[in-house]
Amino acid sequence: MSIIFADKLTKSYPVAVKEPGLKGTLRHFLRRTYKLVEAVKEVSFQIEPGEVVGFLGPNGAGKTTTLKMLTGLIHPTSGVVKVVDRVPFMRQESFLQKITLVMGQKQQLIWDLPALDSLKINGAVYGIPEKESRRRIAELSEMLSLEDKLTQPVRKLSLGERMKAELMAALLHQPQVLFLDEPTLGLDVNAQVAVRDFLRQYNDRAGATILLTSHYMADITELCDRVIVIHEGQLIYDGSLDGLLERFSPYREVQIELARPLAELDGEKESAISLESYGKIESVEGQSVRFLVRREELTAAIAKILAELEVLDLTVTDPPIEEVIRLVFESGSASVDLQSA
Ligand SMILES: Nc1ncnc2c1ncn2[C@@H]1O[C@H](COP(=O)(O)OP(=O)(O)OP(=O)(O)O)[C@@H](O)[C@H]1O
Ligand SMILES: [Mg+2]
Repeated sequence: MSIIFADKLTKSYPVAVKEPGLKGTLRHFLRRTYKLVEAVKEVSFQIEPGEVVGFLGPNGAGKTTTLKMLTGLIHPTSGVVKVVDRVPFMRQESFLQKITLVMGQKQQLIWDLPALDSLKINGAVYGIPEKESRRRIAELSEMLSLEDKLTQPVRKLSLGERMKAELMAALLHQPQVLFLDEPTLGLDVNAQVAVRDFLRQYNDRAGATILLTSHYMADITELCDRVIVIHEGQLIYDGSLDGLLERFSPYREVQIELARPLAELDGEKESAISLESYGKIESVEGQSVRFLVRREELTAAIAKILAELEVLDLTVTDPPIEEVIRLVFESGSASVDLQSA
């Protein structure tokens, strides 16, 4: 069986509703009425050992809720969930020893203690022999270049250093399955790269399975072969990143470098209008113009550009992945697209 298994996983939260006005407030105080908000609706997927999967969706899509069900922090309203062959909510020792959950916005290290002390405590909690614990701490801190920071109280560490220490704490027991909820949140680019490289190494070395959410697309493109996308609690895509681009982005981006500045053409306003005839203009900066052109119209559009404009350079690329993801999230038709595909 797969190492992570979710079948029709659903979570609804009761949310108190208050009628507007003073009367509403009073009534709310006396007798609350609730409505159910479905944060996650019948989400199914399976993940095999060693896979690194990106879990994408806009704010409020249900990512954290799903991760909480997969790690047993909350009980599903309905559906079946199994991780390393266990029911997460039972929080058995044999389950906890094999998984870890890292949340970018929540910390488990003790603020006033040096990270090293928290790490030693963690080692003891997981029943790791002291010598082995020391060895693992040395190994992890070397991989994360954090050796000289471990004796500092956690509150004195920078955000990036703290995140690295959190990762050390989360991985000390050498879990097979890593659930990472925005592990690079708020980190600068260098720290993001360091954490990313570290995760890739950990996956390589330990053959660990990783399910991670991130709003930084680079985390996903660099680490994940497969992505699962949810929107308003529902799964709308499960497959390769390339497949996602193909399915949801019917456009290519065409960038041209004009021989002369636009103003020299025939008055800026007019030229902007005539440029519209080649594709949807994304940006005009000096002599360089970017268009979005539908894939099926690409050849014709390029021929037209080359015939009618004086062009120094022309490149065709896929639009930035951020752009595609934004389109996926925006189009309410995403799930319809999926069904018709
Ligand atoms: N304890 C709760 N009680 C009521 N509603 C909740 C609770 N936790 C989450 N929700 C709601 O469930 C929905 C999904 O939330 P969730 O935190 O899973 O989203 P997310 O995909 O992690 O978003 P983000 O990218 O912002 O972290 C949201 O509408 C949220 O308001
Ligand atoms: Mg979240």
